[in-house]
Amino acid sequence: MTMETAPPTNTDPGTNPVPVEQEAPAPAPKRLKLHGRAFYESIGSPKRIVAPMVDASELAWRILSRKYNADAAYSPMFHARLFAETEYYRRQSLRYAPTSDTEPALSYDGDQKSDRPFLIQFCANDPQHLLAAAKIAQHHCDAVDLNLGCPQGIARKGHYGAFLQEQPDLIYKLINTLHKELDIPVTAKIRILDTKETTLAYAKMVLDAGASILTVHGRRRDQKSHNTGLADWSYIRYLRDNLPPETVIFANGNILYNADVESCLEVTGADGVMCAETNLYNPAVFMPPTASFEERFPRVDVMVRQYLQIVRDLTFGEGNPVVELSKEQTREHASLTCIKSHLFRLLHAVFTRKENHYIRNSLAKASGQRFDEILKLADELEKVVDEQLKLTPETPEQWDEIMKEAGGPGADAKILRIPWWRCQPYVRPTPQQAYENGAMQKSKKERNAASKESKRELDPESATSNSTEEAPAKRQKVDELPQPEQVKANDQPDSLDPKLSS
Ligand SMILES: Cc1cc2nc3c(=O)[nH]c(=O)nc-3n(C[C@H](O)[C@H](O)[C@H](O)COP(=O)(O)O)c2cc1C
Repeated sequence: MTMETAPPTNTDPGTNPVPVEQEAPAPAPKRLKLHGRAFYESIGSPKRIVAPMVDASELAWRILSRKYNADAAYSPMFHARLFAETEYYRRQSLRYAPTSDTEPALSYDGDQKSDRPFLIQFCANDPQHLLAAAKIAQHHCDAVDLNLGCPQGIARKGHYGAFLQEQPDLIYKLINTLHKELDIPVTAKIRILDTKETTLAYAKMVLDAGASILTVHGRRRDQKSHNTGLADWSYIRYLRDNLPPETVIFANGNILYNADVESCLEVTGADGVMCAETNLYNPAVFMPPTASFEERFPRVDVMVRQYLQIVRDLTFGEGNPVVELSKEQTREHASLTCIKSHLFRLLHAVFTRKENHYIRNSLAKASGQRFDEILKLADELEKVVDEQLKLTPETPEQWDEIMKEAGGPGADAKILRIPWWRCQPYVRPTPQQAYENGAMQKSKKERNAASKESKRELDPESATSNSTEEAPAKRQKVDELPQPEQVKANDQPDSLDPKLSS
């Protein structure tokens, strides 16, 4: 395929390379507003749900995930005030439905045929900003979700996500405003609190405010980056057992393999399971555990091809030639701006092999602007996998052998030895492992506590003395650990638009 330079059809920085109508206040036909379980059933009682993910759960990715059995999906989190006030931000966030009656050539966010059920998520701390944003969004989705779980520094600065936990009145108002004023239901995504009882009281408040679906991420606010650790499903079970049965709950956290989805439903009693990180590494995670090995752990080159085909069709239109785009044009296509991070995740196991580093290096230099170059990488990848399979052909017996090792979820799981040419989850080191390999360092408070603890163990009587013989040595050990190569930690939106901190 030849790379052409896009004709300078329009100098407006907001121009798309293909004529897609962007700003459509699509007058939605008035729908009957349902609530809670009635709403959940009206969208088909989804069980396998693609999580909201900044720079990752964009339209192309949702379409791919739906091909692999996801039955509902959330948008990335958008900033309510910016969404309400800035047309350019909206254009970067969503591709709108066309206004005309003619069949649209391309899929768009919330497309009835290719992108439903679809929930649009916002972060906000002002009910009026949230309402203004949600009123625009409601024409393009089935429900609007409020992010109450983001634990990142940027959320602390911007005062949203999990940093609203201390302000139940504000949370109530945010949800209740949408519940009363919006034409479609409002939903919310929370993290667990310190105890089951406080989490239950929190969940009740969110539901009383009017949330139709409650997503519970079974980790606390401080469980992020290297300290992510395991989600606690017992909290979600506790909520299930103590909330009215008509309450709709999505459980979130600890999904590594297909079988974990079923276990999670069983253990938590939740209505659906939401998955984020593993969906990015293996979009086939939602395939049923009865599916073949091939279907559950597809070849990476096959997955990359399918994904790139979706991006290509969305960007240039089916069958149209690929052309080089300007930076501005690229920025308006979420599917192009996310492409490299998706490919790095999909190919993480491929890149653990030294002999494949040249592909990694080419990917690092690639850009969504020059989509043709990315397609060439896919050709190279296919060649590499084909050659590998000639050397080490796979057999069904091998697959059975691998699957025999399947264990429980999270860190207790027996990590399956999936070959590097197949999509597979990224298994995060536990906080303990992160300490041990130096990726995570203890805070001063933790170091002091640990040193006191070890003194108590060595000599219970001296535990209260001021002797510091032992402590400095221990501290030094931790402090002097060489900083290893960053362990990948992408549990959370680490690449949020800096504008969001406002
Ligand atoms: C790349 C990435 C981006 C994320 N962005 C969001 C977001 O926009 N909104 C949100 O509520 N959670 C976000 N999260 C958190 C996930 O939705 C999910 O709650 C968390 O990763 C735990 O699920 P998991 O164990 O399946 O990864 C993000 C996670 C990842 C990995």
